[in-house]
Amino acid sequence: MRRYLIAGNWKMNTTRESGVKLAKAIAEVNSDTTRNVEVLVCPPFPYLIPVVDAVAGSEVKVGSQNCYFEDGGAFTGETSLSMIKDTGATSVILGHSERRHVLNETNDDINRKVLKTLENGLQAVLCVGELLEERTGNKTEAVLDEQMEGGLKDVSAEAMANVVIAYEPVWAIGTGQTASPEQADAAHAHLRKWLETRYSEEVANATRILYGGSVKPSNAEELLSQENVDGALVGGASLTPENFIPIIEAGGKISS
Ligand code: PGA
Repeated sequence: MRRYLIAGNWKMNTTRESGVKLAKAIAEVNSDTTRNVEVLVCPPFPYLIPVVDAVAGSEVKVGSQNCYFEDGGAFTGETSLSMIKDTGATSVILGHSERRHVLNETNDDINRKVLKTLENGLQAVLCVGELLEERTGNKTEAVLDEQMEGGLKDVSAEAMANVVIAYEPVWAIGTGQTASPEQADAAHAHLRKWLETRYSEEVANATRILYGGSVKPSNAEELLSQENVDGALVGGASLTPENFIPIIEAGGKISS
């Protein structure tokens, strides 16, 4: 059985103080409720170390929201995987739509980051998702295929054990407009089929596919109940314990 993963993408939000407070509140969630749920929080780079310290002793894991694909050297402003590892973080979100569409990252950049993340033994959370005009133009599946092919180029079946896919329709991110459970499940089923064709049934069955885009306490249970939805990547609602903890609990309720 695939273990649910509920991940919080804090984006460029929080302060050191509010991030530590939020992380501590999440770390205190009753572990009985979350036995079958892996919880991940992804603060901004400067807060990785204090957040790792804040969740120490709990099951909560910490990830970064990006990385660079070179090992070190003259790359002003970038952060290497060894630096991220050094903070105690264990995951990296890659290919988020804001990085694709605001920061102009290409599938090739994302692929190099995925490969470097895996080479360093960290978990890669690869985000894919279509724009509104791509959905209305019936291009959703073609876009997802291209992002999967590009992002996972040269990633072996063995390395897929450390890859999580996040389906995040761009039109649903930060807009309050969530994909319907049926729309989410259809896209996830397509991605699972892609994994089966590209890798194997075993890889397709073992790989977790998260949904992201306006997930909140009121819709989490319905989304997470879908056959192919194995967790959530949560933006806005991950910034307060009042919103994020019920989403974790929804995963715990379904999987228990
Ligand atoms: P949202 O963001 O939950 O605020 O829509 C999701 C994401 O960008 O990962």
